[in-house]
Amino acid sequence: MTQRSLGIIMNGVTGRMGMNQHLIRSVVAIRAAGGVTLSDGSKVQLDPILVGRNADKVAALAKVHGVERWTTDLDQAIANPTDTIFFDAATTQMRPALLEKAIAAGKHVYCEKPIATNLAEAVKICRLAEEKGVKNGVVQDKLFLPGLQKLRLLRDSGFFGRMLSVKGEFGYWVFEGDWGQPAQRPSWNYRAEDGGGLILDMVCHWRYVLDNLFGEVQAVSCLGATHIPERVDESGRTYKATADDAAYATFELDGGVIAHINMSWATRVYRDDLVTFQVDGTLGSAVAGLQDCVMQPRAATPRPVWNPDVKQSIDFYSTWQKVPDNLTYDNGFKAQWEMFIRHVAEDAPWKYTLREGAKGVQLVEAALQSWKERRFVDVPPLQYGAAAARMAAE
Ligand SMILES: NC(=O)c1ccc[n+]([C@@H]2O[C@H](COP(=O)([O-])OP(=O)(O)OC[C@H]3O[C@@H](n4cnc5c(N)ncnc54)[C@H](O)[C@@H]3O)[C@@H](O)[C@H]2O)c1
Repeated sequence: MTQRSLGIIMNGVTGRMGMNQHLIRSVVAIRAAGGVTLSDGSKVQLDPILVGRNADKVAALAKVHGVERWTTDLDQAIANPTDTIFFDAATTQMRPALLEKAIAAGKHVYCEKPIATNLAEAVKICRLAEEKGVKNGVVQDKLFLPGLQKLRLLRDSGFFGRMLSVKGEFGYWVFEGDWGQPAQRPSWNYRAEDGGGLILDMVCHWRYVLDNLFGEVQAVSCLGATHIPERVDESGRTYKATADDAAYATFELDGGVIAHINMSWATRVYRDDLVTFQVDGTLGSAVAGLQDCVMQPRAATPRPVWNPDVKQSIDFYSTWQKVPDNLTYDNGFKAQWEMFIRHVAEDAPWKYTLREGAKGVQLVEAALQSWKERRFVDVPPLQYGAAAARMAAE
C-alpha cells in the first residue's frame, strides 16, 4: 500500500492545549497508528516539526514523543517548502499575524479557537486564506463530544418534536492561587490585555454548538462579570484580573429556539459534568454532559404539583433514561485532525473553515457589545469581502 508523508509545522505545543490535545492525543496518536487512511486505502503519515521559544523545553517534548524535528526558529520552519501545513495553538493574540505569515508562504493553515481576538482581524485572515487558495480550518472540538453527538442523534431522530429551549451550564471553580492551591488555568485567561476573558474564550465555542445543533444564532444578550478581582499567577505574583470570569447570556436562535448559557470560572459544580445542556422540546427533553446524555420522552414525563408544604415525593433524577453508548467516539481533537488531513491530502469535504471560526469571533463581539450597551444585539450573516474587512476595521 502506498504511503506518503505530510510535513506539519506545530506552533505552541508546549502549552496546555497544544501539548495534550494536539500533539499527544492527536498527531502522536495518529503517527502511532501509521497515519491517516485515505478513501483509496492508502495512508498519509504525519511528519511534524515542533516550534517553541524555549529550546530545552521543545527538544525534551520532541524526544519524549518520538518526534525527530524541532526548532525555535518559526520563520525558518515556515520557509521550508516541504512542510505544507501550519498549525497554531499558541497565544490567541499572536494568531492572526502567524496565520498571515504562513498563508503568505502558501501553507495550509489549521488553528485553535478563537482565530483572532477581534472580528476585523478574523475576517481579514479568512479573506487572505481564500485569496491564496490554501486549505484552512479551526478547532471546533465540542461538536465531537459524545454527549453532544448523542443530542444530535436525538434531534435527527425527531425525539424533541418542536425544540423550545436550550439551557447550558458551563464552569467550575478556578482557584485564585492565593491560599495554597495554585490556579488550574493559565493566568493570561484573567487579563484582558493578554487575550483573556471568559466571553472570548467560550462564546466562540457556543456559536458553533448552537448553530450546528439547535439553530443559527440571530441575536444575543449578555451580562459579563469579573467576580474575582485579584488572582495569583504562575510565579506567585498577585495580579489584577482585568478580564471577565463569568457571563450570563441569552441567545435567540433560528426557528424560535431560546438558548441561555451560564458560564463561570467562579462557580462550584453541583451537576453531572463541567458543562451540561438541557434541551426541552414538545415531544421530549434531554440533558447532555461531556460524555453522557439522558432523555425523557413525553409519555414518561412525571406530573409534579406545586406544594411547598410537603417534602418532594418524586425522585426526578430516576425518571430519566440514559441514551445508550451504541456508537464509539474517538478523541474529538484527533477526529478533527484526521478530517483536516484528508481535506488537505484528497480534498475531502470540510466544514470547519476559518469562516466558521470568524462567526465565533463575531458572536464574541456581539456579546461584549450587548454587555457594554445593556441590550440585545443582532447577529447578521457575516460578510467576508474586502469591503467588509475594511468596514470592520474602521
Ligand atoms: N479548544 C479548546 O477547548 C481550548 C481550550 C483551551 C484553550 N484553547 C485555546 O488554545 C490556545 C492556547 O491556550 P492554552 O490554554 O493552551 O494556553 P497556554 O498558556 O497553556 O499555552 C500557550 C502557548 O503559547 C506559547 N506562547 C505564549 N506566549 C508566546 C509568545 N509571546 N511567543 C510565542 N509563543 C508564546 C506558550 O509557550 C505556550 O506554548 C488559546 O488560543 C486558547 O483560546 C482552546
